[in-house]
Amino acid sequence: MIDRKKLENQMIKEIEMFEMNHKKSGELYRKAKGSLLQGVPMNWMTKWAGSYPVYVASAKGAHFQDVDGNDYLDLCLGDTGSMIGHAPEPAVRAINEYAKKGTTFMLPTEDAAWNGEELNRRFGMQYWQFATSATDSNRFALRLAREITKRKKIVVYNWCYHGSVDETVAVIDEKTGKTVAKPGSLGPQCDPALTTKVIEWNDVTALEAALADEDVAAVLAEPVMTNCGIVHPEPGYHDALRELTKKYGTLLIIDETHTICAGVGGCTKEYGLKPDMVVVGKTVAAGIPCAAYGFTKEVGEKAAAAIPPELCDIGGIGGTLAANALSMHVMRAVLGEVLTQEYYDKNIPLAKRFNEGVQSVISKYDLPWNTTQLGCRTEYWFRKEPAKNGGEAEAAVDFQLDQYMHLASMNRGFLMTPFHNMALISAATSEEDIDRHTAVFDEIVSNII
Ligand SMILES: Cc1ncc(COP(=O)(O)O)c(C=O)c1O
Repeated sequence: MIDRKKLENQMIKEIEMFEMNHKKSGELYRKAKGSLLQGVPMNWMTKWAGSYPVYVASAKGAHFQDVDGNDYLDLCLGDTGSMIGHAPEPAVRAINEYAKKGTTFMLPTEDAAWNGEELNRRFGMQYWQFATSATDSNRFALRLAREITKRKKIVVYNWCYHGSVDETVAVIDEKTGKTVAKPGSLGPQCDPALTTKVIEWNDVTALEAALADEDVAAVLAEPVMTNCGIVHPEPGYHDALRELTKKYGTLLIIDETHTICAGVGGCTKEYGLKPDMVVVGKTVAAGIPCAAYGFTKEVGEKAAAAIPPELCDIGGIGGTLAANALSMHVMRAVLGEVLTQEYYDKNIPLAKRFNEGVQSVISKYDLPWNTTQLGCRTEYWFRKEPAKNGGEAEAAVDFQLDQYMHLASMNRGFLMTPFHNMALISAATSEEDIDRHTAVFDEIVSNII
């Protein structure tokens, strides 16, 4: 379907267009090369399509402007960190309040318990702890799970992503079926097969086989996979996951960092899941680094009993900036005033409109691609049917095509996430924005077939 020669030629034109319209970003990038490794403040930023990353000037709601004066509809939204839109008023107010009052104390403020109660109401977990990132929340949840169960291994899904947590940077080796380091895994600290069993999503037999040895402390799962494209659970999979983890004495940790896009209590609430622990992060404090992990009453009591008071500060969980006053205050503003049911009532229909627009172009050109949606997260993927698991999704990745779609979209004022073809829709997005995207999607597809 895709004419690769046309694609190559069009890519050359897109790069020319990018450099022509992003001169100031180019200057800033060249200057940064003297002090920043690879010219970027964080290594993932080298992945953006185009000759260099675009430098942001300012943002509000669903849009941002770059230093060259170009305006974009932001469909990346900080890969969920800004899912609620940029600079929502309650968060701006909360940030200003604590910027004046002091930001971090290693002492609690009243907001923390308010957040705990609100998270309990949404996710059904009795006790909560806070961390500075979802990566840390996952790391601490896994440590506590191993401590409580006295088991060493964990189970994760093929091509999952839960942050830079050592035990999770692993995949199934296609030839041997064994757990190996993920391609690109930098300096693995040990053979991941020692810590981890990787299985395919939606495979109940593989799940039971992984748990049956009774050496698995926890299954760490997104309730819908989102980091290898959106891969939904098949009917009954969550029931089997809960039943089998209980049967073999394994804890179930549901990572809602991305799937909070599905509703106020993520998929845990939407699907009525009953995990032992829940992890949230990213957007919950409007992009101020902050995350949380919650426990059922039973698991929380076991965790508390496992933490020796005299050594709690050196036991491998926590952090001086975790639960700082600023982040707690912003989280309260976000949960109380922004990320409410009304918010989802607005942005989920907008995501549906986006999805339908993209699907209409796929149908018009009869492309072997599909679209998926989870709440305000929507995606197109280069295979005819939605993938059933991470292995299938990964096999359909087309890096050349990804780079083209991202760059051509960016040149026309739409920022996609740099990882795959995902769009997050904030409630500040307008229907006109979305319809304009459909027209641009049509144009950029028609240029390469
Ligand atoms: C499901 C999931 N969990 C955890 C993380 C880690 O989040 P952070 O990079 O904010 O630590 C991510 C990041 O993309 C994620 O997608």
